[in-house]
Amino acid sequence: MTAHLSSAESSNVESLLKETRIFSPATDLAASLGGAYCASMDEYRARHTRSIADPEGFWGEVAQGFEWFTPWTRVLEWNCPDAKWFVGATTNICHNALDRHVLDGHGHEVAIIWEGEPKLPGDNGPQPEVKHLCYGELLDEVCRTANALKSLGVKKGEVVTLYMGMVPELAIALLACARIGAVHSVIFGGFPAPAIADRMLDANSRVIMTCDGAWRRGAVVPLKKSVDEAIHLLCAQNHTVDHCVVVHRIKHEMEGAVDWTAGRDHAWHELIDAQSAECACEPMDSEDPLFLLYTSGSTGKPKGILHTVGGYMVYTAYTAQQTFNLRPGAGHVYWCTADIGWITGHSYVIYGIMPNRVPTIMYEGAPNFPGDDRFWEIVARHRVTHFYTAPTAIRSFMKWGDQHPGKHDLSTLKVLGTVGEPINPEAWMWYRQHIGADACPIVDTFWQTETGGHVITPLACVTPTVPGSCTLPFFGIDAAVVDEQGNELPPNVGGLLVIRKPWPSMLRGVHRDRARFIDTYWSRIKGMYLAGDGARRCEKGYFWIMGRIDDILNVSGHRLGTMEVESALVSHPAVVEAAVVGMPHEIKGMGIAAFVSLAPGSTPSEALKTALRSHVSSVLGPIAKPDMIRFTQTLPKTRSGKIMRRLLRDIAAGRDGNQDTTTLEDFTTLATLRANEE
Ligand code: WT7
Repeated sequence: MTAHLSSAESSNVESLLKETRIFSPATDLAASLGGAYCASMDEYRARHTRSIADPEGFWGEVAQGFEWFTPWTRVLEWNCPDAKWFVGATTNICHNALDRHVLDGHGHEVAIIWEGEPKLPGDNGPQPEVKHLCYGELLDEVCRTANALKSLGVKKGEVVTLYMGMVPELAIALLACARIGAVHSVIFGGFPAPAIADRMLDANSRVIMTCDGAWRRGAVVPLKKSVDEAIHLLCAQNHTVDHCVVVHRIKHEMEGAVDWTAGRDHAWHELIDAQSAECACEPMDSEDPLFLLYTSGSTGKPKGILHTVGGYMVYTAYTAQQTFNLRPGAGHVYWCTADIGWITGHSYVIYGIMPNRVPTIMYEGAPNFPGDDRFWEIVARHRVTHFYTAPTAIRSFMKWGDQHPGKHDLSTLKVLGTVGEPINPEAWMWYRQHIGADACPIVDTFWQTETGGHVITPLACVTPTVPGSCTLPFFGIDAAVVDEQGNELPPNVGGLLVIRKPWPSMLRGVHRDRARFIDTYWSRIKGMYLAGDGARRCEKGYFWIMGRIDDILNVSGHRLGTMEVESALVSHPAVVEAAVVGMPHEIKGMGIAAFVSLAPGSTPSEALKTALRSHVSSVLGPIAKPDMIRFTQTLPKTRSGKIMRRLLRDIAAGRDGNQDTTTLEDFTTLATLRANEE
């Protein structure tokens, strides 16, 4: 085992090494999906080999499946780390998601099935609120919204911030931005005001679209209030927000509760309904920016990951098609449960699915409201064929009990997917047995905000799967496990996961931070993309992801920087210093443990722990709340002053560890911490 893997990761791998169960896709699966895109493992290997040997030939052919306004002069221009795909071509992703289907005579087919939280104003029953949006009507709405943005003065290249719940208007807003070439920056609705302000400032964004509030388990999340607070914070930094467009989603409940600034705030429907439904797509250069999405890094503030139009469009739609074996006109109903606030929602609720002309479900609410069987009830009612969720959700389903999926007819399901973090074999088996009736393949898709789409994944109809492995690289992905010198490691030796060749939807940069782009992804191993995960490959060439190698936490499939949580803790007056590490957590996969040293005059207490938890929540949102807080006099540090997180990880996990402590500045610190297990 190499030095950069923690003992927790190593022991995880030891048990995975013993995994021998292999599941091949059922022989009738391909036929029931209307045919397989890839017929055998031999074909997969041949196509993969070709895609690596001749990426330009391979991706040029794939890209022919999309509509372009002008063709490319070259498929790829690569000056590591800068890639240009489909050079000189113009297109619009909105055209390929909507207009194209309407022009081809499919305007009446369902594009989005929207399922609301069951509670309506004045309605106490669990009556579903459902909307079916066809390509044609969606196109009209997108055009109106695009015209509304133009009427507010939004120009091509300008960043529009979207801070909304999972309402249809969010999908419409994304596509409207794409249509006019505005760059969207979606901020997850669970983030508090300071996170909105930071991101708007970094992106120099002056227009925001939001909702008065969002429904969450029957309660209201006051989104507009957070936006007002963010605008206030921005004012203090001399950044003006010119326009705020507000969808009224919870109007009844909020009457009088939403502040309104005339001239700046606009009611969505008043603004948009008045617009024309004609709006031509802006011809976008393939390398024009499509969106920014902020994600956590190991140091400092979140990074604005940049994706561009052409490569992202081709790669997300093609991976969606090949991984899930999606086919138009074959009765598929696809549901990815991710929120559009994360990359999974961008790529596999909207952009990668709509060009495939398969209806995509957008669900507003929680998995356990009004009951623990909510997802299965939705699957049964909409006759879902493809279901894509996260390990953290699967672990919750396991805990809630087998009886919940058991109550519903899940026989329409054909393909199951997982994403977000390594899935433990136990959860994998439960998913297969209780949701997939022991028949559906599970596609464990490994990818990142930065990769744009799946990079290591099974293909539903062909790849034999093994619980806990994300299996093999997607076409065009030259993935490898290497040592610090970039040499490929032999089977079963843990090392760094890298991608050695460019692929169409790779990130094009970190917004306004070239140095961070280079340092984070391109410096440690020359000429290769560093994913930041530890991995090993077994003799079959299958990949086993071991988790992050840096100080990034992965809580319920969401990345959080330890620095972010530490800074939030230190911003509380009682705290002088804090160190945050991950710890095993039954449901979330990883929980957050915080070691905190207090300012003189502050005394440790349970009440202070509660106060610190809610303080972190108000700065970073509820997902960042520490699960465990330990007070300590000092933190264990190396001579150079670096906090020794490994030791803290062991303590947080309740392990004694057997670590080399000779670089500890204060030997007594560790002993004290160990003697005081919570
Ligand atoms: C990190 C990326 C990509 C959408 C969700 C998260 C972990 C993601 C898997 C998987 C093992 C996984 C990695 C990765 N991860 N999918 N199938 N198996 N680990 O996106 O927030 O950019 O996080 O999530 O650690 O680096 P993200």
